[in-house]
Parts: sequence; C-alpha cells; structure tokens
Amino acid sequence: MSIKIHEYDAVIVGAGLAGLAAAKELTEAGKKTAVITKLHPLRSHSGAAQGGINAALGKDDSTELHEFDTVKGSDYLADQDCVELMCTKAPETIRWAERMGAVFSRDEEGDIAIRPFGGQSKPRACYAKDRTGLTLLQTIYEQADRAGIEVFDEWYCSDLIYEDGKVSGVVAYDIRTSEPAIFNAKVTMFATGGHGRAYRFNSNAHANTGDSLSIVARHGLPLEDMEFVQFHPSGLGGSGVLISEAARGEGGRLFNSEGERFMTKYAPNAMELASRDVVSRAIMEEVRQGRGVGKDGQSVNIDLTHLDPQIILTRLPELRELAIAFQGQDMLKEPIHISATAHYSMGGIPTNINCQVEKNANKELVEGFYAAGECSCVSVHGANRLGANSVLEAMLFGRHAGENMVKALDEGIELRPAKESDADTTVAEMNTLLTSNGKERVAKLREELQIGMTADAGVFRTKESLERQLKLIDELLVRFKDIRIDDKSKTFNTDLQEATELGHMLEFSKFIVDGALNREESRGGHYREDFPTRDDEKYMKHTYAYMDKDYKMSQEWGEVTQGKFEPMERKY
Ligand code: FUM
Repeated sequence: MSIKIHEYDAVIVGAGLAGLAAAKELTEAGKKTAVITKLHPLRSHSGAAQGGINAALGKDDSTELHEFDTVKGSDYLADQDCVELMCTKAPETIRWAERMGAVFSRDEEGDIAIRPFGGQSKPRACYAKDRTGLTLLQTIYEQADRAGIEVFDEWYCSDLIYEDGKVSGVVAYDIRTSEPAIFNAKVTMFATGGHGRAYRFNSNAHANTGDSLSIVARHGLPLEDMEFVQFHPSGLGGSGVLISEAARGEGGRLFNSEGERFMTKYAPNAMELASRDVVSRAIMEEVRQGRGVGKDGQSVNIDLTHLDPQIILTRLPELRELAIAFQGQDMLKEPIHISATAHYSMGGIPTNINCQVEKNANKELVEGFYAAGECSCVSVHGANRLGANSVLEAMLFGRHAGENMVKALDEGIELRPAKESDADTTVAEMNTLLTSNGKERVAKLREELQIGMTADAGVFRTKESLERQLKLIDELLVRFKDIRIDDKSKTFNTDLQEATELGHMLEFSKFIVDGALNREESRGGHYREDFPTRDDEKYMKHTYAYMDKDYKMSQEWGEVTQGKFEPMERKY
C-alpha cells in the first residue's frame, strides 16, 4: 500500500482549546499548520467545561493570591515557575478571549462577572453562564478558522514519528476510509485532552480515551505524575455527568441521608468550597459510612432550593436541564443526587515551561515536540487542580506553545523527511485488529477495566486495592491480544477505533495504578488509606514513569520547582 506523506511546518493533534489556540498562533504567523482531530473541533471536550476560567480580576484579588491558592491546592507539587506564568498571564488571557468575541456574563456594573470556586480565597472564576468552555471553544474555533487553519477532522492519530530524540510528525488514518497517511512536520504538538473514560464513573466525553499518552509511552518516553487523577465532587448520581462546581459556588449545600450538612466535619471554614479532593473524599466517606442517598445509597444531596430561582435560571440553566434530563430532578424544587466522578488528569506528557516535551527526569528535551492542555503535565496543578484553572491552562499554554513553535520555526528547525515505513506500526496494528478472530470483546474488557479503576484506583486507594487492579490490567492486556471485532470493513469502522482506544486505555491505566502504588503517601487527589499523610521528605517529587514493550514499568523521580510559597499543612 502506498502511504501519502503530507508536509507541514506544524502538526497539532487535538482541536480543543489548547490545540486551536496554538493553531491560530501558528497560522497567523504564516506557518503551514495541520490540525488532526478524531472529532469535529466543536465536539471537543473543552466545550463541556461549565463553570469558569480563573483570573484575578476582582477588586480585592491579586495574581499572588491566585498563585498561592493554586500552589496550596496542588498540595505543593505544582512547579511554581509555571504557576506564576499562568496566574500572571490570566487577566490578559481573558482580555484576549474577549477581544476575539467571547461573551462573558456581566455583573451589575457591566464588568466581567466572577463567581467563587473551591479552594480559592476570592471569587475568581469568570464565566459565561454555565457554558464557559463552549463559549470559548466556539469563539476560538471561529477565529482560528478565520485565520485559515487546516483541519483534518475525523482523522485518528495512531502514532508519533520519533527517532534519535527528535519528533518529525505523526501517522494518522482517515476514519471515513481507514486510509493511513503521514503528517511530516518540523514541529509537532499533542493537545489531545483527558483520559477519564478509563473510569466507570466519570464526567468525560466518549472520546476521552487518553490515546496520546500511550502513543508517547510506546516510544520509551515518560509520563509524569499519572497517579494524580481528579475526582470532581459533583457528578450526577448514576451517570457521572458533570454538575459544575458553580452550583456550590453559587451557594449549593451538601447534605447526607440524615439531613446533616456534613462538610462542617471535613472543612469547617471553606465548607462546600474546599478544594475538590477534600470535598470528594468527604462525599465518598459519607457514602461509605452508610449515609448516602439515592436508590443504591451511593450519592449525597446538593441542595439549591434556598437560592433565588433567578440565580439558577440565569447562571445555571444547563445544570438544571441536565439534572432534569438524566435524573428527573428539578433543582429549583428539590435537592439533586451527586457523587464524586473521575474528571481530570493532573499528570500527563511532561513538558517544560515552554510546553516542550521532556524525555526524562533530568528534563532533557525531545526535539520538535510540544504538548499542552490536559494531556500534558507542565505542571501547574501538581496533585490537585483548582476548578476553573483547566480552561485557563488550556487557552494560555496552548497559545504559549503556539508562540514557542513559531519561534522554533523562525530559528530554522529543520524538517527530517518521513519515510513510508514510518506508518508500518499503524498498518500492522490495524491489520492485527481487523483480522484477529479471538474470543474476547472490546466492550467487556473495557467495562472490567473501568469498574476496577473506579473501585480500586479511585478516591480511596490501598496497597491491596492497587495490587488487585495492577493484576487485573496485566490480565486484560493478555486477553486484549485475543479480541475479535465484528466490523471488518474500512468504512467508518468504529469497532476498529474503539479497539485501538482500549489498547491505549489499558496501557496508560497501568501508569496510574503503578504510580499510585509507588507513592506511599497521600497528597491532593491521591489518597492512600494505608499512608494517610503527606510525606514531603520522600515524595515532594514528580513521578516520571516508563513502560517497556512487555508492559513492565520503571520509574524515576524529578525535582519539583519550588518558589515563594513554602510547603505547609493544607487546611480549608
Ligand atoms: O465544575 C466545573 O465547572 C468544572 C470546571 C473545571 O473542571 O475547571
């Protein structure tokens, strides 16, 4: 089969906020740029971000307070130079979005409205009702399109072209025809979003299968801090669909089955607006103690009935619709059932402050390779992300990556010509999956993985639970070799795509579980019941983990960049 080789200055995989922000910068600078995405850009999961985007715009707020809250929220694992960059440039990022046409909600003076979010000492989340991500995604897509970006939508990126420390593009196939092609580029960026679908109970879109993480890892490159998964306190009971933190920001209160406002026990000062890890653990503890609500007792109540109905109707209209549609519960009239849901990955592809991918814990760089947004670990979130910092990170670091790629191109980074054989792995993988006639089914293996991840590598973890999940993943990796898909055709073969995605999910999940097993402490979103306290002496370190061809894991520790905020005990 002859493989088409496209040549570009830049190739970006992923068309959410980070990918589009970078593509816009590159295209406006006259660089020939391709954006490859398995969805249409407007279906990217960035559009599901509801509650807000942080910037210290309030009269009594400051960049320094935003930095402090972010570092404290991260349980002191964030790199403080990156946090400083993000918080300093946050107000300018809001103005950039506004100048592009984003319509933010307004306060009575006509200024951009801000609402409180968890773990923050001041109201700081700028918002567009409860559709902030969608508003920003539509705006940036429109402007990137106007700049002339070239999008290959419904193309599935299957491999990275990596040799001798340099990336020179990707291999992808057209989902319509299953035809592979090579996208040869001087600079390449991954902005592929999160991996929440590895969990049974999650707030993520079906597309969030974390493909790029294992694509990178298959080339012997590390993933950073994968054990840190964020569980958002408010997923709709049963489905996990997000009910934004804005519901608590606007005054929602949490109650258990005994009518107790239980956050008084867990975070007496911040209450429902403690950071997400704290609130999620509190909810799951109430459920474990038998004080849950709902058919299966697995949820707690969030009550907004005491609020002026106009607050719900004007600031949280989509949340109300979601709770009615999924649960038949109208938040104007009654409390709704929620539970902690897998939401966000703090870890990912390690990068330096300029979004250049690192190849080891010594922070040596891969040439020509960048990453930004949720798939990356820059690291501004450390062990726990503050709500409304992810949309900020995606926009800001996406744009920053774009600027840095423009710089690399202007400095003359060269194209290393790709060869047709660079697509060999993809072709072989597709053929294996299409012709395999084993007895295992993708949906069954995926379900077993997801149930295990939620039960054994979820909000609470122990050595026993993690070892059980590691064993399960190893078994699933073996069984995966014996799968069979029904659709053997080449046209819109979603069976093939889902099988490929499952392979990735199994592999990166091993990084989550192995990292959690090695980190014998509790920090942020990683809570080990057998090691319930933070251990700065041993573990104030980033995990850099590697997987070999036999799925064996190894690990190095990387330094955390400290700054003006000394680590202290985290209380809310
Ligand atoms: O709760 C939310 O609206 C989610 C925001 C975020 O994850 O930043």
